[in-house]
Amino acid sequence: MSSIASLGYIGIQSKQLEDWDRFSTDLLGMQRVDRAKGLSAFRMDDRKQRLIVDARDNSGPGFIGWEVAHRHELDALAARLQDHHIAFRQGSRSLAEERFVADLIVLEDPAGHRLEFFWKPEIASDPFVASRPINGFKTGPLGMGHVVLHVSHMEPMLVFYRDILGFSVTDYAQTPYRLYFLHVNNRHHSFAMVETGRNGLHHFMLELYGLDDVGQGYDLAMENDQVAFTLGRHSNDWMTSFYAQTPSGFFVEYGWGAREIDPGNWEAEETFDGPSYWGHDRLHLPPEARRRQREMTLDAARRGLQAGNPVNCPWLDSVTTR
Ligand SMILES: [Fe+2]
Repeated sequence: MSSIASLGYIGIQSKQLEDWDRFSTDLLGMQRVDRAKGLSAFRMDDRKQRLIVDARDNSGPGFIGWEVAHRHELDALAARLQDHHIAFRQGSRSLAEERFVADLIVLEDPAGHRLEFFWKPEIASDPFVASRPINGFKTGPLGMGHVVLHVSHMEPMLVFYRDILGFSVTDYAQTPYRLYFLHVNNRHHSFAMVETGRNGLHHFMLELYGLDDVGQGYDLAMENDQVAFTLGRHSNDWMTSFYAQTPSGFFVEYGWGAREIDPGNWEAEETFDGPSYWGHDRLHLPPEARRRQREMTLDAARRGLQAGNPVNCPWLDSVTTR
């Protein structure tokens, strides 16, 4: 079992601060908080920040913040990294202050993505106020959402995340790309990798409490020509979602109604049903690749594959779907 508790925060390095501000508030409904010049931060819940956009440094894709529950788990993680001869550095006091956490360590994964492992995030004294009328983001013990990376070579990344960091595989697929979905808590996946032959951020996902939050977001994204994947439902986590094009070129998945799993009673499984029961038409793909994806979805429909009821009782889900 992983000592990592959840996805804590995501940082984006981008000069397009104003576009990100608009995107994160008007479409996503996050709350912008004032920070230093060249830095935007956004709230989704009681945390001081969940999404950070940094225009001061445009040298890389950003950073992913993984939370551990206790100080000793950060120490244990550092010891494990040392045992595996993986380089890491202690986050400075000023970096910890900038991230609003008690302490952190910083390292790069085998593909060069910057990871930050932290504990004890600061809680805001004032309540979260969404920028548009939504029911709010489902975070808490499930974390901020999930993050999905493009990878050029799956194997070394899988060894790093699964065998060294202790993420657990929920499921995996070989087509249309090699895909691995991994969990660290009851969220079906907090992390996934798709072997597309390049490295970078594919998307991150935010889960809403209301289906109408997602539907109304979908209307806004359509209005602004920002839809990358149409509304649809995923076959593994049962998320109903659409994907929006961000100012940085990757996507944000905006979803509702995913199931939870019971990590103590879960065995990794291979899936064959394609990524979605319906929808998720990938508008940005070249015609042939888009067609292939649509064929998989239409085939799932022909076979009558549908999600169960996301009652979010891990025990019930485990006995009714396996
Ligand atoms: Fe996703």
